[in-house]
Amino acid sequence: MRHLTVSRIVAVVAVFAGGPPALAGDNLQIAHGRKLVKANCARCHATGLTGKSTHPDAPPFRRLHLRYPIEDLEEALAEGISTGHPDMPEFVASPQQIGAIVAYIRSLSR
Ligand code: HEC
Repeated sequence: MRHLTVSRIVAVVAVFAGGPPALAGDNLQIAHGRKLVKANCARCHATGLTGKSTHPDAPPFRRLHLRYPIEDLEEALAEGISTGHPDMPEFVASPQQIGAIVAYIRSLSR
């Protein structure tokens, strides 16, 4: 019992010592992704938790995880997601931007 308490304290200290807690980092990334998506994707796709896509063929982002594993989306974005999207402009993103967009889309699917 005593041993358990001590190791728990150690774990908590380790989280704070290791830079920003993982959760805050995730939230920042998600916020960045939300901005990118609003600027680059929202004119066709529904990007929030509710609402319809403006473009009739564009899937709402909150449903993407039902079509693909979100990891595949990361790969598709890295390759330039132009394949199979006639109406969709090619979007060239840095790995950091892709990470943010994917984190945001993943956050919708929870
Ligand atoms: C000009 C309109 C337009 C914009 C802007 C746009 N999309 Fe799309 N997107 C579409 C359409 C239309 C489809 C459906 C194409 C199809 O089913 O063939 C689509 C499909 C997708 C799909 C599903 C892929 C598939 O093969 O079914 C993903 C993922 C996607 N878009 C991501 C994005 C992201 C991320 C952005 C912003 C960086 C974005 N889109 C911006 C029109 C757009």
